[in-house]
Amino acid sequence: MSKVSALYPGSFDPPTNGHLDLIERGAKIFEELVVGILRNSEKSPMFSLAERLEMLKTLTAHLKNVRIEAFHGLMVEYAKSIDATCVLRGIRAVSDYEYELQMALMNRKLEPTLETVFMMPADKYSYVSSRLVREVAQIGGPVKGLVPEVVEQKLREKLEPAYKFHDEMQEATARSASGKEKKKRKKKV
Ligand code: PNS
Repeated sequence: MSKVSALYPGSFDPPTNGHLDLIERGAKIFEELVVGILRNSEKSPMFSLAERLEMLKTLTAHLKNVRIEAFHGLMVEYAKSIDATCVLRGIRAVSDYEYELQMALMNRKLEPTLETVFMMPADKYSYVSSRLVREVAQIGGPVKGLVPEVVEQKLREKLEPAYKFHDEMQEATARSASGKEKKKRKKKV
């Protein structure tokens, strides 16, 4: 097989364990893998481009054939500019397929020489998405195991009031439950 340079494009807002799993798998089969973070993927991303670049660089420091970059404009044009001949995308479930197929075919129309390759992350990450991680974290919920520790830490820093409120509510619920339990026991005696 000839040596292939691939581009793994995405928003990575924030990077999840599923993304990292796919990067590690991609790094094994491609000679070079560029993780391309789309600028302005959403009007107001949770993490700035600089933060996403920093997190992904830290998370992939052990992978010598992986490079983290930012891009804007058409993905196929960026792929061409870095001499990538392949685009890597992850498919978690059937629900991803329709959107990914549409995107792959549109990209093929735009640049017929660029091939899209789909890989599956480990099944334990098949329900993990950046959108759901943001949703859970914004309410101060636990995201342990869904994102790497550095990302979890960044989420805690960014959403400190939400986490504080959530932790206080949990403590209050626990206190009230143990109070009720004590009363129950007293009545019995
Ligand atoms: O992580 P995401 O948000 O699913 O990634 C989507 C991404 C960045 C791969 C896609 O939106 C993209 O390639 N955007 C760049 C603009 C472009 O080329 N659009 C045409 C796609 S068919």
